[in-house]
Amino acid sequence: MSVPIKSADEIVRMREAGRLASELLDYLTPHVKAGVTTGEIDRLAHVYMVDVQRTVPATLNYAPPGHSPYPASLCTSINHVVCHGIPGDRKLRNGDIINVDVTVIKDEYHGDSSRMFFIGAPSIQSRRLVDVTYEAMWKGIRAVRPGAHLGDIGHVIQRHAESNGFSIVREFCGHGIGRRFHEEPQVLHYGRPGTGLKLQPGMIFTVEPMVNAGRPGIRGLADGWTIVTADHSLSAQWEHTVLVTDDGFEVLTVSSGTPPPPPLDA
Ligand code: MF3
Ligand code: CO
Ligand code: CO
Repeated sequence: MSVPIKSADEIVRMREAGRLASELLDYLTPHVKAGVTTGEIDRLAHVYMVDVQRTVPATLNYAPPGHSPYPASLCTSINHVVCHGIPGDRKLRNGDIINVDVTVIKDEYHGDSSRMFFIGAPSIQSRRLVDVTYEAMWKGIRAVRPGAHLGDIGHVIQRHAESNGFSIVREFCGHGIGRRFHEEPQVLHYGRPGTGLKLQPGMIFTVEPMVNAGRPGIRGLADGWTIVTADHSLSAQWEHTVLVTDDGFEVLTVSSGTPPPPPLDA
């Protein structure tokens, strides 16, 4: 198993791709509101990527082994949809929660990030789920440093989700990213401290926990992509692309609209 170590030049390009992914989410944010369809968000994103950013939407026609080509330029996962929801004519409604997940390719390198949005005023449970998932992602990111193990990241994410009564989806994980969309290592969102790959400066991977309000089980829909919770409970996800630096981490998917990190004691 070989985990790529990025050169200084590749890191510059990954920083640019990460910033563009985050700026795309900034651009989409005012459009993620009641009455808008997920297909409209997808079209806006596509045009912005191709005509404004001169980036390539990495998800469009993405076809890993065993999958049909993914038909859209981003993923929109509403309520009990865990991930990979396909944009369409579903209108956003007050009370929905939605994850918007974008991956852009710039100068051959990928930037991958997702955020959660509330449509109208969230229920107490929705807000807790989304906030705990955000805190869990950040606990994972803050565990990133040379010499730490991937199991340290998974452990703090799992502990935070489960101690709040939620559960971690096991079937999907974070991933190395660079010139390829998904490469080694696999970054599990559960685990035991001190286990798994030892981190080195120059590794780049995503941290993207999927947290369910109910049980961890999932089901895939007949469209071949959409993943839902088996018990139809709500699910949330946040994602950043992260570089291992000489003394810790650098989040690459940042822009002026990036939500601030939670307080250290959250
Ligand atoms: N952006 C997703 C990730 O975080 C992958 C989406 S693949 C798609 O890895 F084909 F479903 F779009
Ligand atoms: Co990802
Ligand atoms: Co993503």
